[in-house]
Amino acid sequence: MNSEQFKKSIQEALVQKNITRGNEEKVAVFLNFLDEISSSMIEDFSMLTQMSLVFEGFYQSVSSDSNLKRTLLNIKIRRWHKHYGTPTVLFLLTYDKAISDIKLFFLSGSLDREISLLSILSTAKKTILDHNNHVYIDIDSASEIELPQEEETGKFTKTYNPSGGFTTTPCDPVSQKFLKYSEEIARTGGAILEIGAAFGATSLQALTKGATVYCNDIDAKNLAVVRRRYLHGIEESSLTGDDSSLVLVPGEFPDELLGLPKNFFDAILICRVMHFFTGAQIEKSLRSLSSFLKPGGRVFVVCETPFLKNWQKFIPEYERRLAEDIQWPGEINNPAEFESSGRAASLPKFVHWITKEVMERALNSTNFDIEHIDYIDRNGQFPEDLLFDGRESIGAIAIKPF
Ligand SMILES: C[S@@+](CC[C@H](N)C(=O)[O-])C[C@H]1O[C@@H](n2cnc3c(N)ncnc32)[C@H](O)[C@@H]1O
Repeated sequence: MNSEQFKKSIQEALVQKNITRGNEEKVAVFLNFLDEISSSMIEDFSMLTQMSLVFEGFYQSVSSDSNLKRTLLNIKIRRWHKHYGTPTVLFLLTYDKAISDIKLFFLSGSLDREISLLSILSTAKKTILDHNNHVYIDIDSASEIELPQEEETGKFTKTYNPSGGFTTTPCDPVSQKFLKYSEEIARTGGAILEIGAAFGATSLQALTKGATVYCNDIDAKNLAVVRRRYLHGIEESSLTGDDSSLVLVPGEFPDELLGLPKNFFDAILICRVMHFFTGAQIEKSLRSLSSFLKPGGRVFVVCETPFLKNWQKFIPEYERRLAEDIQWPGEINNPAEFESSGRAASLPKFVHWITKEVMERALNSTNFDIEHIDYIDRNGQFPEDLLFDGRESIGAIAIKPF
């Protein structure tokens, strides 16, 4: 795709009034930016790079669940079709500041403000051309991300995602089974996927077992840590951040990962991520995971339950909802009201605690065959102030039928 084709695909999609309704001014400014870039007389890959980062900033400023967002997402997936539909980690990190400036500009609501696109773009470094994806990137951008301390069992490490919670080691039995299974898969040259991998504690262990790992997180900086840890000081040489064994796919699962290959993975781990999703999103996510798996492939799921000590204020409400037969009784729109340790401040505005029955029902309704499902006793695995009655997490392994 060259810059003219990219611009044209955006213009054509955005002429439709039903897509831009309510965002007309924003869209007009965005399209003007693209025109400004295409009249700038620079060579085509520079134009495509600039258009791609302006696109990303604009895309990030548009509210989810709108027609405009869905339309832009389709364009984005096509734009990055050579990279599974997601921008590369090195692209996102190279232009981190420029993308966030453009996002803030569109979010600011003062679009009549004079803004110098050129000055924003000029803060973006460019060094080497990523020939596959037609963007200039700074090959050192990942090495500028600070390395966190190694995760420790029994402790939580804060991730780079401000509302993405904490990570720890793959100490639970379902993550352990995922690793064991990955080792078997590696012998036959299969591929695995981890969703919401944070700093890659599990993915990195799978790599040492010889598996080919596709590693996802919503936050490119988290994935930069995975990359840096994987390299262990070996000089960066990849133009995308990926190599033959480790593919980094930054994006918000499920919607932004639609470009991943179908019927392809032998195993997928999604550990402590689904509790950020509504019930409807959980079902959508499970269907999406099923589409990525080969028939016979396994999904490994770990989620938090309401049986965490710091969420005990929620239990009476949870029981009331159970009694009323509410379909997703663990959905919480006001976490701070129920959380007692102060951790709600580092959580999103919505969380969803899931019990065995609810997970079982979700897996059954999305046509998985459940191989294993049980509560996980987090004694020795989670900080002590979270421990309650040995049911702090729920873990499941399920098979996509042939
Ligand atoms: C609670 S942490 C768990 C990290 C790791 N899986 C673990 O078990 O320690 C959640 C991680 O998922 C990421 N995340 C949250 N929502 C996501 C989404 N919709 N798609 C991809 N990653 C997501 C966050 O950035 C964060 O790294």
